[in-house]
Amino acid sequence: MHSKERVFSGIQPSGTSHLGTYLGALKNFVALQDDYETFYCIVDLHALTTPRDPKVLRSSVREIAAIYLAAGLDPSRAIIFRQSSVGEHAELCWLMNCVAKVGELSRMTQFKDKTQRGGAEAASVGLYAYPVLQAADILLYNAHLVPVGEDQRQHLELARTLARRFNNLYGDTFVVPEIMIPKTGARIMALDEPTAKMSKSRPTPGGYISLLDEPDEIRRKIRRAKTDSGTEVTATPDKPAISNLLGIYAGLSNRTVPEVEGQYRGKGYGDFKKDLAEVVVEGLSPIRERALELLDDPRELDALLESGAEKARAVARPVLRDAASRMGLD
Ligand code: AMP
Ligand code: TRP
Repeated sequence: MHSKERVFSGIQPSGTSHLGTYLGALKNFVALQDDYETFYCIVDLHALTTPRDPKVLRSSVREIAAIYLAAGLDPSRAIIFRQSSVGEHAELCWLMNCVAKVGELSRMTQFKDKTQRGGAEAASVGLYAYPVLQAADILLYNAHLVPVGEDQRQHLELARTLARRFNNLYGDTFVVPEIMIPKTGARIMALDEPTAKMSKSRPTPGGYISLLDEPDEIRRKIRRAKTDSGTEVTATPDKPAISNLLGIYAGLSNRTVPEVEGQYRGKGYGDFKKDLAEVVVEGLSPIRERALELLDDPRELDALLESGAEKARAVARPVLRDAASRMGLD
């Protein structure tokens, strides 16, 4: 039998996942599970790179597990697990730390952005090495394809560079992974500030729609979302706010932006926003309801994660052993 190619991706258990996480990543995770052998990780080691309350971290892990399932991942096909349960991630990360270069990590824009306020000197070494751990995550499964949002492009480029470098130094070991970025929804912007990415760490809750927001909360946030000057519902560079809202509409209704623009020709922002609110409510409510149900039974979620980790370990162990042995560790 021809074995399926592999997909790997991960989401951090930090804050609440939002519409950007869903359209940029999670929606694709679900679509890929039919045709690939899929590994979807809850990257708790990555979450530790900035300080966390241990209790909150534990509950965030379960929340992401519930959201994975509620969004449509099927544990009989997709392997869902927690990164820290598979020790091979941290081990391969160390090996890759010895292959990656300080210069490369110093060019990572996410590190620069995240340390802009407090300064790089005060950042954890973990935050600096974050992209190396991410590369290790992917290479450990010899994943061919990595579905992510646009903000992960540079990290994926580094993963490809490290795979190639390792292969050149020690012989053909790792698959060089391809990045997969969706056509619509790759970069959802904040509702209150359409020039900034919708993000978990945004201080204003009006900027993002959490996957667990109540329908009325969603309606309120869409009603208050920033719009642009003018009246036409079109995605043009001078209309960053409406372009963003059109992207959300298109992504959730599985249509293209021009199709949605066509539907609102001759109509105003008010009509569009009213319909958009219902599109978002319809898209997210089933996820929210199912996730909350699943969160009622945390032991079931823990058991699911443990069984995923077992399957993940079985794949990761020989890959790590092979890499270590090629470096002379045997
Ligand atoms: P995170 O929640 O930061 O771990 O991100 C999980 C996934 O969601 C990654 O693939 C990100 O690229 C993607 N993502 C996060 N925020 C956004 C956004 N605003 N628009 C599109 N994709 C996003
Ligand atoms: N850095 C990613 C993010 O914040 C999460 C992540 C960790 C990831 N490891 C990964 C994504 C491996 C894809 C593949 O969104």
